[in-house]
Amino acid sequence: MLENKTVILGVSGGIAVYKAVELLRLLTKAGATVHVVMSKNAQEFVTPLTFQTLSGNPVHTELFNLYQEQEIGHISLADRADLFILAPATANLIGKIANGLADDLLSTSVMATKAPVLVVPAMNSNMYENPLYQQNEKKLAEAGYQVMEPATGELACGWLGKGKLPEPELIFAAADAMLTAKDLSGCRVLVTAGPTREELDPIRYLTNYSSGKMGYAVAAAAAARGASVTLVSGPTSLQTPYGVEVVPVRSAEQMRAAVLECFAESDVVIKAAAVADYRPARRGENKIKKTADEMTIELEKNPDILSELGTRKQEQVLVGFAAETESLLVHATEKLQKKGLDMIVANDVTAEGAGFDVDTNLVRFLFADGKVEELDLMRKEQVANRLLDQVAELWQAKRQ
Ligand code: C5P
Repeated sequence: MLENKTVILGVSGGIAVYKAVELLRLLTKAGATVHVVMSKNAQEFVTPLTFQTLSGNPVHTELFNLYQEQEIGHISLADRADLFILAPATANLIGKIANGLADDLLSTSVMATKAPVLVVPAMNSNMYENPLYQQNEKKLAEAGYQVMEPATGELACGWLGKGKLPEPELIFAAADAMLTAKDLSGCRVLVTAGPTREELDPIRYLTNYSSGKMGYAVAAAAAARGASVTLVSGPTSLQTPYGVEVVPVRSAEQMRAAVLECFAESDVVIKAAAVADYRPARRGENKIKKTADEMTIELEKNPDILSELGTRKQEQVLVGFAAETESLLVHATEKLQKKGLDMIVANDVTAEGAGFDVDTNLVRFLFADGKVEELDLMRKEQVANRLLDQVAELWQAKRQ
């Protein structure tokens, strides 16, 4: 939870500095106050003015600057941080911290802070693999710094390998998780998301408008709250959320198999997927040819995965979604009871800002004991956290 938190973003010199600009934007958008500290080399890649404009705060660059000292001072800067992020963190910066060196404002501030520190390395893959670097990184991890694993891909120097700065969204999620209370620690959560695709032939399928955003937001938020999360996902264009294991599937049948495999080991199941109710009764082995003027497609019913879980459940908390276009409460209540759920998230997908493929949602929570909670229109990430507040309570109650 980065809202109203003070974050120091320490930027050291590497080509990935431009990605720190995007990270800063995500942090401020989430409501954090961000102070940027740049090393001398970092300023060769992007000017302090860019960070200053986007953070709305002066950028700190000098250890001995009379004006900056008077304004804030490197110790008070380190003191007031809720979180310190080093992105990109070069081999040089990591080497300095690991060996207790503090010879500029950035290394001094990191040394002086008592706040949690997220270190996001970025460097050439040979440098990354160098045993001396690896020792330094290990020292940081052992001292309690959280070190992110770099991404693999094409590096700025043209090499292909490990050492890239992870995408800003992933760094943001890791930072957010560091400031989030771990009320789901020890809880194994299974989430389903996205649409299913029901094939007609090798090149055509039936599907729906689900983007997967709601389910992905639930999986990401659950991971940030300490749960171990498996996300069984239909086809979407979304990035794997930080700390989540994704099992990709296409059809309802595949989703059923993946869900049943994990079910016994799950404490909570949240079924946000928009599973197709029907599938073509026959799948053409080859492309169906255009011959007759009319064509009829015969459909057969897909298995209702959630209902099946309802009959099999032991101690699991079972949460379903009901996307409706009319008589919302009637349909949602019926599903809650018929499918044996502990809770259902009801949303009228015709309402402005709600439903498929938008970033917000307007929902109500209905519970097995008849309780109803109505939420305002809010971002899907917020809906996810409100949902998990309820799930955490239901899970705790079942454990006692
Ligand atoms: O019956 P309806 O499709 O409206 O129910 C929605 C809820 O049931 C969602 O949680 C959805 O993931 C789940 N569902 C399912 N298997 C199906 C159809 C829906 O698990 N075949």
